[in-house]
Amino acid sequence: MNLKNADILSARQFNRGDIEAILKMAGKMEVFSSKKKWGDLLKGKLMASLFYEPSTRTRLSFETAMQRLGGNVISVVGAQFSSLSKGETLYDTGKTIENFADVMVIRHPKDGAAEELAAGANVPVINAGDGSSEHPTQALLDIYTMQKELGKLDGKTIVMVGDLKYGRTVHSLSCLLSHFDVQMIFVSPSELKMPGNNLRVLKEKNVSYKETTNLAEAMKWADVLYMTRIQQERFTDQKEYEKHKNAYILDRELVEKKCPKAIIMHPLPRIWEIQKDVDDVPGAAYFKQVRNGVTIRMALLAMVLGKNP
Ligand code: NCD
Repeated sequence: MNLKNADILSARQFNRGDIEAILKMAGKMEVFSSKKKWGDLLKGKLMASLFYEPSTRTRLSFETAMQRLGGNVISVVGAQFSSLSKGETLYDTGKTIENFADVMVIRHPKDGAAEELAAGANVPVINAGDGSSEHPTQALLDIYTMQKELGKLDGKTIVMVGDLKYGRTVHSLSCLLSHFDVQMIFVSPSELKMPGNNLRVLKEKNVSYKETTNLAEAMKWADVLYMTRIQQERFTDQKEYEKHKNAYILDRELVEKKCPKAIIMHPLPRIWEIQKDVDDVPGAAYFKQVRNGVTIRMALLAMVLGKNP
């Protein structure tokens, strides 16, 4: 696979070989993401960071990745401060910003937004989350974390919990995992199940999965327990959110009883679905994911800009 000049818009664009190539490149970036060394691989390159939705980790980890590899960053934060609020299309935004930057990273509340930007832009566009649709770079860092924590993915059971309807990270993650010999268990309230189009990808590949509302039962099978936040901002009816906000809450006692050996993951931010007393459980990996996010984003930026250390 050659990612040079490619857009990264969806987890669907990758096969297993691609995923493995990205993880391998990430391995080469560890020395830089661990803050041991500054790099100069991306010196002379400029990244535009276009975040039209709240973000702490994703934006700062992309910007950290770029800067620690010697590159530079320009950013728009908040749609209200950009011409999108005057009615400019994402297509025109792409046509504009390609004059400034060598690569663009976008987060936007609308499904398909990264694709619209990429249609206009003549430089690589990376999707950092489009509505409730996808979050492919998060899924890559999740896979990287699982591989580091477990040694390998084949043969493992991954339990995904929470808002599987609106949670874009689990949409991209289930797609990437479908290339491995894994079993997936989806735990959600019946109103917040994994959407049909995401399940179709799994069915096409004969991936083994189950759906349930029962967390305690599913936990017993977990090699990885992947928790998610109920996505309040995506609900049109806040009463529906109130109904589900406490659907699944993990505490230390439950982990020790049901899956003491499992790796516990979360894309963050967490609200209360993982209680703080879980942080010291040996398998808690959600803050390691944050570090791995910088590593994966270094790898992706280097690859789309055609650089290899
Ligand atoms: C996620 C997102 O934005 O989809 N956050 C992240 O990028 N790590 C998850 C979430 O907001 O719940």
